[in-house]
Amino acid sequence: MKTCTTIAALRAEIHAHRRAGRRIGFVPTMGALHEGHLSLARTLTRDCDIRVCSIFVNPTQFNDPKDYQAYVINLDKDKALLEREGVDLLFAPDVGEIYPAGFQTTVTVAEISKPFEGALRPGHFAGVATVVTVLFNAVTPDAAIFGEKDFQQLRLIEQMVSDLKMDIQIIRGALVRDADGLALSSRNARLSDEGRRTALSISRGLFAARAAFEGGERSADTLQGIVTQSVLGVQGTEIDYIALVDERSLERVSTVTGACRMLVVVKVEGVRLLDNIALHSIGL
Ligand code: PAF
Repeated sequence: MKTCTTIAALRAEIHAHRRAGRRIGFVPTMGALHEGHLSLARTLTRDCDIRVCSIFVNPTQFNDPKDYQAYVINLDKDKALLEREGVDLLFAPDVGEIYPAGFQTTVTVAEISKPFEGALRPGHFAGVATVVTVLFNAVTPDAAIFGEKDFQQLRLIEQMVSDLKMDIQIIRGALVRDADGLALSSRNARLSDEGRRTALSISRGLFAARAAFEGGERSADTLQGIVTQSVLGVQGTEIDYIALVDERSLERVSTVTGACRMLVVVKVEGVRLLDNIALHSIGL
């Protein structure tokens, strides 16, 4: 795997692949890689000849500067994981390469950025949209993959690519769970054993809601209530939101029709855990 730290070096590599007629796939990350990221890279092998991964801890998407300072990654460890996965090219710039002195452009996606994570973390999605635009312009991928775990982020990127007519196929990467059901996240490492057991109430609740949905339940109140009961049924959980939304607009719905998502964020031991599940009534 070749590593580039500058956009100029990255472009030289990309141009060589393009001249050879290769299709380029891209996985943007902030490091601290786990199986969820690796499964995104693996999914890309279906559609692309060359897989590019970026590791860049983006300061502009942290609404709390303390979280940015506390976000530590181990680049050598991450590189070893990507090597093992057969990723072809790593782009690992420093902050000055992405945001040189005088940088003054921000990309915002108006509506998708407003609720949920956008409301709780002001400025977060503008930071994400801006850095992803810069990374897309540097890598110029044919396809890029984003995990369904950060569902609002995925929708933000889909909307931005569509609005700005970016010629990039956005692939949805399936949410990956540990064997016990917990959605994979680098934040899980901050949970104690007990915290982890507590956190399982989230996926248990989502699975119970989906079972009820498959049994014919369509009321948002009832389905949200099932998840709420599961989460509040154990001690040490604090709900940020549990919301049944239309998958496209992310607006709350009162009844499941078409493609909907149950979005959940719950704090356990001070760690914000994001999860979601698809409830698609199409074709049922
Ligand atoms: O999901 C992430 O890791 C980040 O938000 C992303 C997309 C790499 C942008 O910094």
